Amino acid sequence: MCGIVGSVITVAVGAVLVLGTSLIGYVWVPKIVKDVIVSEVVLVDNTVQMDRFEVIPFAMNFTVRIFGISNPDVVMRGGVPVMDEVGPYVYRLYQTREVLEVTDHTIKYRRHEHFKFDPVLSYPNKEEDLITIINVPYHAIIQVAERLYPRLMSLLNLAMSDVFGKYNEPIITISAKELLFSGISLCLPSSSIVAGVACEIIRGIAADARNIEIMPDGSLLFSVLDYKEQLPSEEYEVMRGTDDPANVGRILSYGESRYFSQWPNPPQGGMSVCNHINGTDSGIFAPFVDTTKSLYAINTDICRSVELRYELDTEYEGIPTKRFAANEWLLDNNEQCFCLNYTTGLNRDDGCLLEGAMELYTCVGSMEAGYSGAA
Ligand SMILES: *[C@@H]1O[C@H](CO)[C@@H](O)[C@H](O)[C@H]1NC(C)=O
Ligand SMILES: *[C@@H]1O[C@H](CO)[C@@H](O)[C@H](O)[C@H]1NC(C)=O
Ligand SMILES: *[C@@H]1O[C@H](CO)[C@@H](O)[C@H](O)[C@H]1NC(C)=O
Repeated sequence: MCGIVGSVITVAVGAVLVLGTSLIGYVWVPKIVKDVIVSEVVLVDNTVQMDRFEVIPFAMNFTVRIFGISNPDVVMRGGVPVMDEVGPYVYRLYQTREVLEVTDHTIKYRRHEHFKFDPVLSYPNKEEDLITIINVPYHAIIQVAERLYPRLMSLLNLAMSDVFGKYNEPIITISAKELLFSGISLCLPSSSIVAGVACEIIRGIAADARNIEIMPDGSLLFSVLDYKEQLPSEEYEVMRGTDDPANVGRILSYGESRYFSQWPNPPQGGMSVCNHINGTDSGIFAPFVDTTKSLYAINTDICRSVELRYELDTEYEGIPTKRFAANEWLLDNNEQCFCLNYTTGLNRDDGCLLEGAMELYTCVGSMEAGYSGAA
């Protein structure tokens, strides 16, 4: 009798133990792991993840490829350009975040970026390589002036050589470094009154353009990337993940706005999906990634959110990772709202640019020039 009870109890205890272990195995341990992961990602002061958030502990690869024109003489006589991809020019990109304010669930910061040319990863390309390309500021200034100040075009015509100096050509040959960082100088001090007037107008246009800097002597300096090195980003306000780790890094506002404003909103009112600020600043992502769902991050160089889709499993320095990437959907314009109908010559019937081209007029140029000028 006693023996039977004893063994029933033993079985029961055994069953409880087995149940207990399987609970520990299947519920508790994953929960511990999950809690540990959560505690290592949410942005709390004096933690390694906060240090990692403020100073990203490794450099990213920032790879630039440039399309050169291999038949400039033919193009100048009206022929079709033959484009030739040169690069990569690889820069190591060091990023830091300057924290401005922390509240219970949110954090405000600005991002700083520092580029350093990597001759080994770029080999055999050098920053000093000469490339023949479209003279970007030349065309941009003429296009904007034509749109905003059509009556002043004849004035600009008289002042071209003083305004553009040695870069007074539609196609120029410059080094990769000049194009990306050291810049193309315009409106150098001159005694010509006509150039003075034209440059005054161009300074007005440049004041809002991110990639044209106004120098202390009043001259202008155009470069593709230097402003990123010189200026901090606009202010980000993001979630810390303290309420829900799935929200860590999720942007609430950028530049004190909850939406981008570069893209046209529907005339009947409401917000265009193209102006949505989705996801993070691309330097932080929430844990427990679901590969069936897209990730989103904003890219301030193109003033829009970018959808990243799961591509494959891979590894980084021995750590298993999942690769998400943006591909053809980034440029297909199917939403039909990354479209301004300002840039001409490569539009579809709906006023959007052809597939593969990206409209940057309001993004690098000025909003004010874009909208009030068009109005
Ligand atoms: C940068 O590129 C090099 C060479 O392709 C690669 O070995 C390295 O892992 C890359 N670094 C990052 C952070 O992606
Ligand atoms: C933002 O995310 C929503 C889904 O949450 C999506 O419908 C929309 O297209 C996204 N906008 C952009 C610009 O990616
Ligand atoms: C785009 O602009 C052109 C010229 O101003 C105009 O004729 C055309 O109707 C516009 N297209 C759209 C879709 O707004």
